[in-house]
This record gives sequence, structure tokens and C-alpha cells, in this order.
Amino acid sequence: MGSPSAPKQLTLLLFFLLAVPWTGAESPAGGGGYRVVSTSGNRGHLSARLELAGNGVKEDLGPDIQRLSLTARQSSGLSLGQLAYLETHSRLHVRITDAEHRRWEVPQDIIPRAAPQHISLAASSPRSRILSAATSDLTFTLHSSPFRFTVSRRSTGDVLFDSSPTLVFKDKYLELTTSLPGDDRSWLYGLGEHTKRTFRLQSGDTFTLWNSDIAASNVDLNLYGSHPFYLDVRSGSGAAHGVLLLNSNGMDVEYGGDYLTYRVIGGVLDLYFFAGPSPLGVVDQYTQLIGRPAPMPYWSFGFHQCRYGYKNVADLEGVVAGYATARIPLEVMWTDIDYMDAFKDFTLDPVNFPAGPLRRFVDQLHRNGQKYVVILDPGININSTYGSFVRGMQQDVFLKRNGSNYQGKVWPGDVYFPDFLNPRAAEYWAGEISLFRRTIPVDGLWIDMNEISNFIDPAPLNALDDPPYRINNSGVRRPINNKTVPASAVHYGGVAEYDAHNMYGFLEARATYNALLKDTGRRPFVLSRSTFVGSGRFTAHWTGDNFATWDDLRYSINTMLSFGLFGIPMVGADICGFGGNTTEELCSRWIQLGAFYPFSRDHSAIGTVRRELYLWGSVTQAARKALGLRYRLLPYLYTLMYEAHATGAPIARPLFFSFPNDAATYAVDRQFLLGRGVLISPVLEPGATTVDAYFPAGRWFSIYDYSLASSSRTGHRVTLPAPADTVNVHVAGGSVVPMQRPGFTTSQSRQTAFHLLVALREDGTAEGDLFLDDGEAPEMGGARGRWTLVRFSAATDRARGVTVRSRVVHNSYGPSRSLVVGKVVVLGLPAAAGPSREIAVYVNGVRVKNNSTSGGGRHGFRRSGGLGVAGLALPVA
Ligand code: NOJ
Repeated sequence: MGSPSAPKQLTLLLFFLLAVPWTGAESPAGGGGYRVVSTSGNRGHLSARLELAGNGVKEDLGPDIQRLSLTARQSSGLSLGQLAYLETHSRLHVRITDAEHRRWEVPQDIIPRAAPQHISLAASSPRSRILSAATSDLTFTLHSSPFRFTVSRRSTGDVLFDSSPTLVFKDKYLELTTSLPGDDRSWLYGLGEHTKRTFRLQSGDTFTLWNSDIAASNVDLNLYGSHPFYLDVRSGSGAAHGVLLLNSNGMDVEYGGDYLTYRVIGGVLDLYFFAGPSPLGVVDQYTQLIGRPAPMPYWSFGFHQCRYGYKNVADLEGVVAGYATARIPLEVMWTDIDYMDAFKDFTLDPVNFPAGPLRRFVDQLHRNGQKYVVILDPGININSTYGSFVRGMQQDVFLKRNGSNYQGKVWPGDVYFPDFLNPRAAEYWAGEISLFRRTIPVDGLWIDMNEISNFIDPAPLNALDDPPYRINNSGVRRPINNKTVPASAVHYGGVAEYDAHNMYGFLEARATYNALLKDTGRRPFVLSRSTFVGSGRFTAHWTGDNFATWDDLRYSINTMLSFGLFGIPMVGADICGFGGNTTEELCSRWIQLGAFYPFSRDHSAIGTVRRELYLWGSVTQAARKALGLRYRLLPYLYTLMYEAHATGAPIARPLFFSFPNDAATYAVDRQFLLGRGVLISPVLEPGATTVDAYFPAGRWFSIYDYSLASSSRTGHRVTLPAPADTVNVHVAGGSVVPMQRPGFTTSQSRQTAFHLLVALREDGTAEGDLFLDDGEAPEMGGARGRWTLVRFSAATDRARGVTVRSRVVHNSYGPSRSLVVGKVVVLGLPAAAGPSREIAVYVNGVRVKNNSTSGGGRHGFRRSGGLGVAGLALPVA
């Protein structure tokens, strides 16, 4: 879609922008749209008053709003009080709303942000205005008549967002279109939650956002969460930017390759542009706004086993024993709704999961260094003999409709739903969790069915339940009430479910996180099915009800990578498939991929074949090897968690995050990176014994035998052997990967000495970080936390060989006993690296003794063996 030719523009630097009168006021051709009648501005802000031009459009969707206000502001995103123009500007905020009436907006306590600036409107003049701060790469241009705006990147001249003059703004229908360069010049990712065949968004797709309990095995339908955020990579420059429409209402986002149209059924047009230009920069800027991902406890990086349909405590004990006997790591045992008495939250089935035996089981898990997590659903059974119900009624915490509690139906039968917009509901929830934990001290909580899922389709009551514009809800344009609570239900403060629907999972996750934090004093672990913008501050996510198919194995990579963009880096899919009967081969290949999901859990549906990893010989083999490697990589993974928490960087990343200038990486979605330099290339097809892998420029070493799989100045494809028991994992030259020995549990693994894998680039250098803390303190890093960050670097010198240095960047974490580097392996030393072919290790500038010279390798120099360097007891307090 093209844009009309731009009217004459006047460039003004933001700092000197004064109120100037507008001239001219033509209507956009064809009626509809808006024109600018006045503007004003000051440092960092620009305001405009818009008026409906012509007679309005799409009358069947309601009358157009006559007068709108627009505010555009540059922001450093650092602190509201700061003068934006003194900072490096990375974010532009454009907000269009009704000038005369307040409308629903995502509440400040969900996404804290600057209050809209109040700038008095002055008289008018030139036809376009440019908001552009000297230190920002983003430029905002306002065009007057017809009204439209563009956002450009100053450094490349690229137009990033180019709104069409066909803006529609009604009570229950907003429409905004931007043109895009099209072809392969613009690559879009994000806009979830959907199961997609590709990670890249495909032209012709409509992305509906309305949280729904629809099995994840349904491709392209609106699933459990809503994330109206996309990342756009421009292939010409390799520069990336992000766009968020901060809006919680239902919407369709239509992507046509050269345009993108938002059709939203409420709220305001609250757009945020993130300048990047690196993909990591975009997620950093995005999570600075929406909140950084919550730190996850160290143990949650271990392997998890779950199933819907475990019969009783003995069944659980058998599974734990099965893993131990098979010598497959097992960190966390889970129980689905089976543990409850008639599916009522906070109760125990007196026959199959009675308190005494279940408590003994959990105590034993804890003695083993293992953990226990159970499920909770939001619906509270209506039953006057049920304590949680009685207390909920006394505290009046349930969602209402027509003045009474709204009655839905879920697993336990008739239910009321806690209204988590009500602060009392969060208190009530915390009280119930605390009470339950006195009986069963669970280590984490799994919150399911929180879209909210409802087994009945409530009949529409009014236009909220069936608004004039019908979004493509689960593939059908129909009322938005199907399988959920009615949009006409009313939350605390009079907020309509119509507006708050997509935030329920967020609110429940926040309440659950706070409840666990309060009750345990430790870092909470929450797993939520439903999510919204910013949910990563409180929860991990799994991709929902997939099927045991090869397609769903493959698509899990797309969803995992999308959640990395959404600021929810702790994500994984049900390993071996949830629904349907898995096969030995599929399960084997799935654990090989799933061992590298940030959140690694085997889960399955009731009535399907069991799929614990010890049940088949070949799966056991594959699991031992893949999970063994995961556990060796735990220090690396946990350091990535810290990076995610500090900067929003996804743990599992698309290749273009590390290689944004290599356009061949843009379509890669059958492989992914952990962090910057660990490349996973799983088998995703039945019967395959090889994998066709893409290696970007540089050197790539096998993590198993250290062989060089690729070394090239340009990226290229390599066919790799992929025998049944092996998943291909490679380390990029330039990485220092901290590892430990595998254990049956993460705490066992944490007792072992560190091993540094130093993979040199062509120029003989490498870097990497190691983050350490106790793994369960509420804070990770930060001013009050006790933590240590060690930065490793390697350099090669012809005469002196390789020098590996470690520098303790921050050190407030005490224990030093186990922090010994027992082994350093250097990969890729040039043949002529000097006569000594020596590895020297320095800790904070002091050379430490090397007591072993064993090693050597086929591919360049390698020295391994115990360095046993007590001096490398890194962070001594
Ligand atoms: C739906 C969830 O997606 C699934 O993981 C769970 O097993 C069932 N609910 C039963 O609780």
C-alpha cells in the first residue's frame, strides 16, 4: 500500500519546537480520516488536535469520534523525571485518543509509564512537523491534511512506520494502517500468541489477539496470550526496530507484506517505537518499558516431569524412581488437577493424594534435592462446604455480571472466578496459597485455564459481548464470548471484561508471584498459560496443548523464539507432545530439542500413552546425552537468565540476534541459539539421520568432540550427521562457555568444579560471562542482591600462546569453596601459535599455576586437564 505524496515539510528540532499555526486543511480523498487543526509542543513533546475530515466511514461500526488528540514524545526510557533530550533516545511514543472523553487504557500499575503530557493547544500553521531529538535515531513527522504520520530512522533514512490517512476512530472500532517496504526488505516477527508454521510472519496472515483456550496444535488461531508487539528487521541495513501497540482489547492485525493494519475493538492507539538498531537493543528497550523478565530460580533450569493423569502418590513415586534408576536427571515433579478433591483448588483427593503420603513424598523430594510443583485453576467451585469458596464469598472477591457473581463452569463444575483487578482478590489468593503450603510445601505454582477458560458459551447480553466489529476469534467472526467469561462481566472499579479480558492471566500471575514471594521469602517460580504484555515480570510460559506430531515439534521453536521477543524468556513446549500418542522416535527427537528449551518439561494428556523418558531404550539414551549436556551448560544458561533479567535478552534466540547483517539468518527457524554462541540444530523430521544446518560466518566447533564443523568468512549450509542419540550443538568462535559436570539434580551439578570451554575466533580472542548467586534469593543482581559476575576473556599471542583472563566484575556472593575452575579447554588455536603453545590463566591480573599439561587435539591446540587452580576460586568475599 502506498502513501499519498508527502506535503511540504518543515524540519524543526525538538528543542526549539514552538507552537506555530497550521495552514491549509484539505480532506483526504474519499471521506473519512482526520486532519490536523492545531499543534503545540515543547522539549520532547508534540501535541496535535485532529478533527474528523469528511463524513466518516464504516457507519455500521458506529459513529466516528469527531475530535482526537495526538501526543508524540521522545523518551530515554530511563526515568520519567529526566530531561529526555539529554539521554540517548531509544523510544518514541505516539498516542492518539478521543480529545474529549476518557477511554479505557491499560492501567498504569500494569505497565508503568509516563502520564500523558498536558500541553495547551495553540494556533496552527505548516503542513508537517518533525519531532526529532539530536541524540535519537527516530524521527516523527506529522502530516497535516490529511492527517498521517511517519516514523523514520535518521541514520539510514528508512521509513519505519508510515500511517495511511485512513485512520478510523470509533467507540468500539479503531483502524490504523502502516505501509511497509514489502518484498524481502522488511522481516517481521512477533504478534502472538499463535502457533505458526514459520517464525517470520507471513504475508496474508491475520493475527487475532484475544486470549483463548484453544489447543496450540491449531495453527494461526488466537491462543492463550496477547502480545501486540513486533520486531521489524530491514534487510538493507540489518537494522531492527520494534513496535508495540499497548492495548488490551481484542484485535485483528492483518499483515499484507507491504502493509500492516490494526483493527482494534476498543482502548486507544498507544504506539511505542523502539529504535534498536540491533535486535538485542530492541528487546532491551522494549523490556525497559514493559518490565524485565523475572529471575527464575536455579532449580527451574533442571528437567521437569509432568502428566495429566497421574493416578496417586505411588504413581508419582514410581516416576521419580524411574528417572533415578535410568540415571536421567530429574529436578522437578509436577502434579496436574488429579491431586485435587473433585478438582477444587487448594484441596487434596483424600483417596489418591491424601495429605500424609503426599507430604511424605514431597519431603522426600526435598531431601533428594528435588522440587514439587502443582497446578491451580482460577475457577473456585460454588460449594458452601468448601473453605476457599466460603472465604472468597466473605471477602467478596469474585467477578460480577449484572450485579451478581458471574457463574461459569470448569473442571470442578460451577465456579466463580476471583477478580484479580480487585486488590482483595490478590490478598485472598495469597491467603489460600499460604494455607495450602502449610500442608504441601510446593516449590512453585502452575496457573492454567486463565484466559479465562469456561466450558460454557455465555449468551450475549449486550454490545460488549458481540461488538459491531467481529474479530476473527478462533477462526470465526462471532461474539467474543465463546469458551470464556462474558465480555459484559464487570471487574473491580467498574472495568468491563471487554477491556480487561486479555490481562487476566497477567493479573493472576502477578498475584501468584507475590503470594509465593510472601510465603516463601524465596524467588518464586510461576508457570502461566495465559500472558499479556509484561507478564515476563512474574511468570514463565509453556506453549500449551500441542500434539505429539512432528509439525508441533517443529513449530515449538517458532513459539519459543516469539516469547523471547515478548520478554518471557523462560519458555518451553510440552516435550514429546501433550495430546495424542507419541512415538519412540518422536519422543527421542523431542527431548533432544526440549533439553534446550529454556523451560524443559515433559507433559502429556490423560488417556494418552505414557512418555516418561525412561520408558523407551532409545529415548533414555537420547535423554541422558541431551540432558547431560543441558546440565553441563547450567552455568551458561543461568548466566543467560541474568542477562535476560538485566537487559531483556532472550535465552533462546533466533540466529539473526547474533548475526543481524546476515540476511540468510532471517528465515532460519529450525535452529536457534542459546545466548550469543551456542547453536542448536535439532532433527525435526521422522527417519532423518542428518541435519541440514546453517552456519553463519566464523568458526563453529562441535560441543562434543570439539571438531570444527564450519569455518568460513560467509555463512553456508552444512549437512551434519545426526544419529539417533545425538542432537547437534556447536559453539561459535569467540565464546567462553562456563560449564560444570552433569548431576542428577542441579544442586549436585553445582557442587562440581567449573570447566571453561574457550572457543577462539580467527583472531585468537574470545569472551564470556559467568553469573553466580545462591539461585533462590528473590533478587538477581541489583543493589541489594548477593551475586558475583566474572568476565572471561582470551587472547592469543605468537610468543606466549593463549592467555585466559578472568575479571571479577562484581562480587558480593560469598561461598568460594566450589568455585574452582578445574579445566580449561581452548579450541581453535592457530597452528603457529608460538613455540610455547602455552595456556596461561590469570585471575584479576595474577597468573595462577597450571598443574597439568595434558591434552592436545586434532583441530588446533587444545589443553585440558585439571588446572586445579585454587587461585581461580573466583569470588572470595
Ligand atoms: C489444560 C492445560 O493446557 C494442560 O496442560 C493440562 O494438563 C490440562 N488443562 C488439565 O489440567
